[in-house]
Amino acid sequence: MELKTRHLTPEEIGEAVQILREGMVVAFPTETVYGLGANALDPEAVKSIFRAKGRPQDNPLIIHFANAQQVEEFVQEVPPQALLLMERFWPGPLTLVLKKTEQVPDIVTAGLDTVAVRVPDHPVALELLRLTGFPLAAPSANRSGRPSPTRAEHVLADLGGLIPAVLDGGETGWGLESTVLDCTVTPFRLLRPGGVTLEELQDLVPVLYQAEGDGIGTEAPRSPGMKYQHYAPEAKVYLVTGDGAATKIKELSEPYSQRGEGVGVMTWDERAELYPTLTVLPMGPEGNFAALAHNLFHLLRQADILGLKVLFIEGVSEDNLGLAIMNRLRKAADQREIKT
Ligand code: TXA
Ligand code: MG
Repeated sequence: MELKTRHLTPEEIGEAVQILREGMVVAFPTETVYGLGANALDPEAVKSIFRAKGRPQDNPLIIHFANAQQVEEFVQEVPPQALLLMERFWPGPLTLVLKKTEQVPDIVTAGLDTVAVRVPDHPVALELLRLTGFPLAAPSANRSGRPSPTRAEHVLADLGGLIPAVLDGGETGWGLESTVLDCTVTPFRLLRPGGVTLEELQDLVPVLYQAEGDGIGTEAPRSPGMKYQHYAPEAKVYLVTGDGAATKIKELSEPYSQRGEGVGVMTWDERAELYPTLTVLPMGPEGNFAALAHNLFHLLRQADILGLKVLFIEGVSEDNLGLAIMNRLRKAADQREIKT
């Protein structure tokens, strides 16, 4: 069914609340990316999230709360180390996976006995949660497999006509989805790197991260979402790392350029001049990871708007926020990574 998707301003938040109370979905801004929210306690409402996104039903959702106290009823226990992290990083881009109670509908957790919870650090998201009075189940508000939306216009490009409304809070801050941490195992396990870095977590509690055990493989993935391809633009993406990246990119781009096909390169601003014949998607000032994270998904969407056939991306170091950035870039590249 084709809907006219309403584009609401923060002043019109009351209308978003009304739509949610009627059991429908609304896209809303968070400090990470836009989410597609519905009443987490209403299985029918949650079903519409999966429908609108085209999301596989075996991929569980994060539940968003207005504050940490509200979480209590929905989880069996909060280990002391998890409590420490909540106190330090909430509201903020950290999602904790905990043992769930029966209050959480199965559709939210895809039948798992755990639930992912977070308190977002965004005034519009918090106001929405306070006004509705119920927690919101929300994945990123993109069509499944597309880059996560960091602007209302991205949501409309993917879900316009499929959802009743998007609440426009401008560009999101971080630009990458939250860090997901499994707190049901010892030591805690990082399932998805994000805005709260591995280093910051490890400063407080022991945390394990196995990049290779990312969930891609035959074993049942711990974070079900990790097995699906993500963030992919239409263009074929190559991630190129190492000191010889520019030389390699120029060499690989030749045949495409000769056929007159659009070739893009995502690189730091200062390196743009290395690629005079290619379409440059600027990552920001060299080494500014926050700026890159903020723009990353927008740049991937730009690649499509520009109709690029192939996009080369220069890899970055995997320290701090770089770990989350490289995680998303590898997914965009569908494992096409070239080390020079
Ligand atoms: O920043 C974010 O986290 C955004 C905003 C909207 O909050 N949300 C988001 O949701 O990125 P989504 O659905 O795109 O990604 C949630 C990830 C998926 O990889 C999912 O498999 C994992 O969290 N997840 C959810 N519940 C889980 C659970 N019980 N156990 C393990 N992983 C879980
Ligand atoms: Mg997502």
